[in-house]
Amino acid sequence: MAFVVTIGGSPSASSKSASLLALARARLAQSSVETDAITVRDLPAQDLLHARANAPGIAEAVALVQRAQGVVIATPIYKAAYSGILKAFLDLLPQDALAGKVVLPIATGGSLAHMLAIDYALRPVLVALGAAQITGCVYLIDSQFSITDDGTQLDSLGTERLDGALTAFVQQLPIAQL
Ligand SMILES: Cc1cc2nc3c(=O)[nH]c(=O)nc-3n(C[C@H](O)[C@H](O)[C@H](O)COP(=O)(O)O)c2cc1C
Repeated sequence: MAFVVTIGGSPSASSKSASLLALARARLAQSSVETDAITVRDLPAQDLLHARANAPGIAEAVALVQRAQGVVIATPIYKAAYSGILKAFLDLLPQDALAGKVVLPIATGGSLAHMLAIDYALRPVLVALGAAQITGCVYLIDSQFSITDDGTQLDSLGTERLDGALTAFVQQLPIAQL
């Protein structure tokens, strides 16, 4: 069974990008994919900022990434790029941490103005970490979300984009099929 880790890069407690990751994990659970989640805002902040890769909590998160065949990374767009806390975590990964892995990047933004941020900002970092394959990204804007006590709803285009990207992602994983 393939193992996928999701990395949530928002500092927000009520995060749209995190809710997309939750939807992605639910979808992956319908297939032959085991998942686990890293939420960067929940990692020990001092260790993250002081780049203590061997500290408890941080080391466990790094080990999860190393064990995974696939990684889904979600970030809010802040100031035309991915979040600072996501970069703080990615900087703690070994240089080849994504070697041989399939990676699906997801971003949420306030508008379409920065929809290329995944390509010009995040993708080069994923390549530098050795990602074997970066499947088509998902970029959704806040107006495509409806978050209530009953959960997260996406508009039809958002649902289509997320489902399409997850299908392509899973097809690249070893022994898994949506
Ligand atoms: C500090 C800050 C900077 C932001 N900068 C941008 C930006 O440059 N471009 C954009 O489209 N949205 C920007 N936004 C809006 C967020 O990207 C958007 O609300 C996103 O969905 C938040 O995701 P989250 O709830 O997972 O944190 C910014 C929001 C904040 C709080």
